[in-house]
Formats: sequence, structure tokens, C-alpha cells
Amino acid sequence: MSLKGQTAYVTGGASGIGRAVTAMLVEKGIKVYIADLNKQGAESVAKELNDKAGSQVAWSVGVDVTDWDSQVAGFEAAIKDLGGRIDYVYPIAGIAEVSWLPNRPNQKGFVKPNLSVWDVDGTGVLYTCAIAIQQFRRQEPNNFGSRGKIAAVSSVRGLYACPAMPVYSAAKFGVVGFVRAFGKFLPREKISINAICPAIVKTGINIGRSNWYEEAEKLDLVVKMESLINAFESLLGGSDVSGECIEIPAGKTDAPNGWILKPQNDFTTSESEVHVNYSNSQFAHQHDPQQ
Ligand SMILES: NC(=O)c1ccc[n+]([C@@H]2O[C@H](COP(=O)([O-])OP(=O)(O)OC[C@H]3O[C@@H](n4cnc5c(N)ncnc54)[C@H](O)[C@@H]3O)[C@@H](O)[C@H]2O)c1
Repeated sequence: MSLKGQTAYVTGGASGIGRAVTAMLVEKGIKVYIADLNKQGAESVAKELNDKAGSQVAWSVGVDVTDWDSQVAGFEAAIKDLGGRIDYVYPIAGIAEVSWLPNRPNQKGFVKPNLSVWDVDGTGVLYTCAIAIQQFRRQEPNNFGSRGKIAAVSSVRGLYACPAMPVYSAAKFGVVGFVRAFGKFLPREKISINAICPAIVKTGINIGRSNWYEEAEKLDLVVKMESLINAFESLLGGSDVSGECIEIPAGKTDAPNGWILKPQNDFTTSESEVHVNYSNSQFAHQHDPQQ
């Protein structure tokens, strides 16, 4: 079945992974709305794609994902321009670790931490998901039987914590936890959520060091954008995968397309599993439809 005419919303589409996902979607005949803090960058990606296609296949809007009102305004513009329906949402906008807490033992008082990484990579992703899920719940299932699909970007830092990247790791683990939880709840509503967890990939992300990629390549830590795109492609159309984290691992892997579904940790005791099921039964009512 063709994907032609389906619609998508991509945050962070002006650069890097979001830009590559946008190009892949357009290539498949999917119309894409690019939402990015870098409004000019988003406009220029949309223009390039529209010029190449000879018709309008991409739109752009300036959005700050940390700001709820900004996200709602961007998404509402997309619903309007894309004809009232959005089939796929990609929360991809993100930033790398910044110093969250200066180490100054001689300082007096208490400094408020810089939580901008949490705001963009954690709260920003949940805001995008919250808007998408509300829209999907209003939409009838499409030809593939889906009300809508979300594929967020976390990171291998959401699977393996890095001691010197505490807030980035917290935000990325947060996205993994959200996806593994709600992504197993939402298929009953014909909605899916998954996360892509890449190792290092060459993008415009600012890690503050010019030789970062050069040194990472020597250590075989850099993965191909093509592997990420293969993973995103696998989640399109009639895919029934949900609640999964797809790792794009560094180094040599048997994964034929460069990605693997990363299983959750094993339960330590049988009661650990019973506990999940018990909590699930106690909290499920919070998601019941209401008037
Ligand atoms: N590049 C890597 O090695 C790598 C590895 C694992 C995960 N990731 C994750 O992939 C995602 C995309 O990063 P990338 O590597 O493509 O970087 P990138 O810098 O090339 O692209 C990120 C985009 O997000 C946008 N953005 C940043 N803050 C925003 C905000 N507040 N509101 C809206 N847009 C905002 C930027 O303008 C940019 O266009 C991030 O979540 C990042 O953590 C990247």
C-alpha cells in the first residue's frame, strides 16, 4: 500500500537527523511540516524540497519545543495546511549536554541549575507527544489501520548512562521510559510510539569540540545516517511495532540494516514483573476516555 499523500510533522527538521528524516518522508510521497527553533533553516530545507519536487511537499514553522504555546501554534498551523490530518509525528529537536551545575566549592548560596537540556530533550519531546496523541485520538484510522504514529529520537545515552552527561542521560532515559511505558498502552487506541536510539551520527549538533567526529570515527563510534533512516522507515505504514527502542549501535553488529530492537532489562524476581502488572491495573483508569 502506498504512503503517498500521508502527512508528517517533524521537530528539529532544519538540521541533522530531523532533516534526513524529512527528506526520506518526502521521497516516499509524504507531505512534511518542519518545526524548528531555527526558522530560517527550516524554511530553507522546505524550499529546497519544494523546488526539487516542483510542487509543495514541505512546509515550515518556527517553534521552540520547550514552550507549550509555541508547540501548539506550530502544530495547529500544520493541521490547517496539511488538510486536517497528521499520520506521523517525529519529536527529534534536541541539544547536547551543557554544564548544568558549576563546580564552585567556594561559592556562597545555591545556584539554580541550568536545565535547558532537560527542557529541550525531555519536556520538549513530551510536549510534542502530548499534542500528537490528542490529535491522533480525534482522527479515524487510516488505510493502514493507524490513527497515528510517533517516532521520537532518544540516544544510546538513554540505554547506557554516561557519567559526565547527567542531564542528557536523564532526559534520554526519560524518553526511553515514556516510550516503553505508553507505547505499550496506546496500541489499543491504534496509536504507536517508538524511539530511535543512535550512537554518534554526523549532524550539526554542537558538542563544543571541533575534532569530536574525527576522534570518534577512529574509535568506530560513528554510525551511518542511512542506518537511522532504515529504522525510521521500518516504522512507517502498517508497522505494528510500539513501545520499542531501536538502537543504532556503534561498532560491528550483526544487525542487517544497522539497527536492532533493544529489549528491556530482565526482571530481577518474578515479583518485579507482578509489580508492573499490578501498577498497570491500578493506574490504567487515568487514561480512560472522558467527556
Ligand atoms: N548527532 C548525534 O550524535 C546524536 C546521537 C544520539 C542522539 N541524538 C539526538 O538526535 C536529535 C537531533 O539532533 P541532531 O544530531 O540531528 O542535531 P542538529 O543540531 O543537527 O539538529 C537539531 C535540530 O533541533 C533544533 N532545535 C534545538 N533546540 C530546539 C528547540 N528548543 N525548539 C525547536 N527546535 C530546536 C535545532 O535548531 C536543530 O535544527 C537530538 O535529540 C539529539 O540528542 C544525536
